[in-house]
Amino acid sequence: MIRQISLEEILESYNDKAALSEASTIPAPWYVDPRIAELENLTVFSKTWQVIGRADQVSKAGQFVTATLAGEPIVAVRGTDGQLRAFYNVCRHHAAKVVTEPCGSASILHCPYHGWNYGLDGSLKGMPEFDGVKNFERQENGLVPIKVETWEVFVLVNLDPEAKRLEDFLAGLVQRCQPLGLGKLHFFERKVYDIACNWKVFVDNYLDGGYHVPHLHKALSSVLDYKQYTIEIEDRYCLQSSPMVTSDEHAATSNTRKGDRAWYFWQYPNFMINCYEGYMDTNLVLPLDVDHCRVIFDFYFSDVSESRREYNTQSIAVGDRVQDEDLGICEDVQRGLKSRAYGAGRLSVRREAGEQLFHQLLAGDLKAGIAHPVAAD
Ligand code: FES
Ligand SMILES: [Fe+2]
Repeated sequence: MIRQISLEEILESYNDKAALSEASTIPAPWYVDPRIAELENLTVFSKTWQVIGRADQVSKAGQFVTATLAGEPIVAVRGTDGQLRAFYNVCRHHAAKVVTEPCGSASILHCPYHGWNYGLDGSLKGMPEFDGVKNFERQENGLVPIKVETWEVFVLVNLDPEAKRLEDFLAGLVQRCQPLGLGKLHFFERKVYDIACNWKVFVDNYLDGGYHVPHLHKALSSVLDYKQYTIEIEDRYCLQSSPMVTSDEHAATSNTRKGDRAWYFWQYPNFMINCYEGYMDTNLVLPLDVDHCRVIFDFYFSDVSESRREYNTQSIAVGDRVQDEDLGICEDVQRGLKSRAYGAGRLSVRREAGEQLFHQLLAGDLKAGIAHPVAAD
């Protein structure tokens, strides 16, 4: 009989204390074992601040945005008192999803199943045909609240009631992003990619310090000064940045990727912000199961007027091509990670410090999670 390797053994097989020059990636089972995916849901996605929407979607009273986070349905809604709140989007009656639209506006949150009504502050307002029910306190059956805060143009929630404030979680990233004036950009379009790879494969690919760019992305590579590419790691973020050059050969890329520098921010565990002059796209990487993830790209521009529509659309097409190139390689890597020929890989000291930071932060969370298992309540 084959003995199944334990979760503890899988976690122990990664050394998060090694210097970069001695370090390896997290081992292959971390990308393919469903027990790791489950532990990540409990200790990473249920305990870190997660982007669930944009501030402009909930700027007015009654506006709401919904999302699924670590398998949990979530709704954030602006109250008539101007306060932004978030809740588990789960009816206290028989667990139906209360708000079923992705975003919108409402004066009351109305459960579609048996018609229970909740106020914008989550309080239970009314239950049809509930007379005669004993020992039921309406005040104690409001939607269950969760932490919510905004930063720049983003709405973030945290499922952990003990979580520290968003500002403390983001730490240095807040100041580092400030000069870019992200708040001046306007949302234009969303694209969603489902990829047959573990979510960490996509993040690793992002964090390889441009290592793959000259090989995989010829057009993008032509506008970046690859030799000058810098990698900064701090707190829970990594900033990769490169001076820009112009390219005659790849005009579409050159026309839509402008400015002095390209800025690529990653915030642990799964959020990226990519900026060029007058342009930003964000990438939110959500695990679907151990072998699949969904990456949500939101595109923002400084000018979203009708006259710029064609330019903005062309700019997104350039991003799409890069994304296609990444997608293929990520799916290949996922297959390779299952091969008996592969265990773990070494890291480039020049390029892959961001990847090591990611693996170290993840290992810290998973090891702490298994030492103090989260009680299901
Ligand atoms: S589940 Fe919501 S009213 Fe019954
Ligand atoms: Fe890439």
